Amino acid sequence: MPTLEPHREPREGRKKEKRDATPYLPTRITLPSMRAAVQGCRGCDLYKNATQAVFGEGAAKAACVFVGEQPGNEEDKEGKPFVGPAGRILDKGLADAGIARELVYITNAVKHFKHEMRGARRLHRSPNVGELNACRPWLEQELKVTKPKVIVCMGTTAARSVLGRKITLRDVRGQVIDSLYADKTVVTTHPSSILRSPDDESRRRNYEAFVADLKIVAGVLE
Ligand code: URA
Ligand code: SF4
Repeated sequence: MPTLEPHREPREGRKKEKRDATPYLPTRITLPSMRAAVQGCRGCDLYKNATQAVFGEGAAKAACVFVGEQPGNEEDKEGKPFVGPAGRILDKGLADAGIARELVYITNAVKHFKHEMRGARRLHRSPNVGELNACRPWLEQELKVTKPKVIVCMGTTAARSVLGRKITLRDVRGQVIDSLYADKTVVTTHPSSILRSPDDESRRRNYEAFVADLKIVAGVLE
């Protein structure tokens, strides 16, 4: 039985100390033990307003890990990554690029849904760099366990967490770059940004560019 006890005491009350997810990692690191332990994470304040943490899902020895930003409204309720509108774009993109689902593990840079209330609606807010850093231990361990051949960062927030620096999409898009966690890392757009395209024509173009990036990934996986 994996123990769910944190292997280090959370350092409460020491305000200057940087908080992060490290004290909440299970002693024995496996995907199932982390998936259970993440529900108790207090590494930043985002757990306070979310329904639950959303951990990654998919192939345990993944050829390819897709990293998004954070769970959205539907993911927060269901407890699974990419099950809402962005997930439907991702599913279609994988199919159109010819990447088999059995090869893929899907996760997010941040595990709790950050949002603000607008009337009855929960509006997505992007995580800040402190929250990205706080949550990185989970992502780091997911990448160490799954050992992907390729990491795909969907959007600049995911890229910032994986690469540890701010990037501009047009500077890195289409390239296969090196990162700490895999020899091959590809940065593409976030599926939600395709959904936010202002008109049908730009939506079509943005989706085509997304699939073109995924075809680069498919080529590397062959
Ligand atoms: N957007 C993300 O970045 N991740 C999800 O899981 C869903 C939407
Ligand atoms: Fe922990 Fe990440 Fe949730 Fe913050 S967002 S409480 S670091 S799991």
